[in-house]
Amino acid sequence: MQAPLCTIIGNWKMNGTQADLKEWFATYSAQPELKGVSFGLCPPAPLIPSLVAHAPQGFLCGGQDCHSEAKGAFTGDTSAALLKDLGCQTVIVGHSERRTDHKESDALVKAKAQAADQAGLRPIICIGETLAEREAGKTIDVLTTQLQGSVPDSMGPQGCLLAYEPVWAIGTGKTPTLQEITEAHQAIRQWFQANRPGLGDVPLLYGGSVKPENAQEILSLMNVDGALVGGASLQAASLYAIGAAGALHPA
Ligand code: PGA
Repeated sequence: MQAPLCTIIGNWKMNGTQADLKEWFATYSAQPELKGVSFGLCPPAPLIPSLVAHAPQGFLCGGQDCHSEAKGAFTGDTSAALLKDLGCQTVIVGHSERRTDHKESDALVKAKAQAADQAGLRPIICIGETLAEREAGKTIDVLTTQLQGSVPDSMGPQGCLLAYEPVWAIGTGKTPTLQEITEAHQAIRQWFQANRPGLGDVPLLYGGSVKPENAQEILSLMNVDGALVGGASLQAASLYAIGAAGALHPA
């Protein structure tokens, strides 16, 4: 199967209802198909059956988190196996809101990525620096430490995706400069080549205040293979417009 040029994943976070999802797909499905662009959505877990019911062929269905254990007494958590059973292909792990609000460590994120892999899902592993870390000039060190701690040594054939999301850019309307995004993605690419050559060309998504207005310049950067989109993914027209901007840049 040929890899998409551009992967655009929406993260609904704790937003949306069944009616919203229905309306979202009514708008999305009315748009022409974009060659080389792969779209997906990660809504709150209870909406996944609705998502799977509405999603057209090839649309990626995902969860926002999974537990590191396959099953057991973990009230309120969702297993990767259940996400797979419901029809998901992917799951976000290590989002900064989970790392901060739920005190998730790199080791736990790695265990979740492994659990996803074992269940046959393709994890989207998130990393990113805080503003203080960027201002202290530590961005690349922080990303390297997170990569080392969060990315499993080996994975099944479905592999993984990596999302670079600066914590200070998430939901703030602020983005790094294009130069800063390029430097981060280049460092991440080099890290994978040196440390996880077996994982091949892992798609690198940028996330943090991506919207239709800035998508084209971000998605045209070297080593940016797509976007993880929060706020702007709540409207199908916005997520589609972001994908359309990505489709303008054949690799
Ligand atoms: P944002 O969120 O697009 O609203 O900044 C991105 C994310 O958290 O994945």
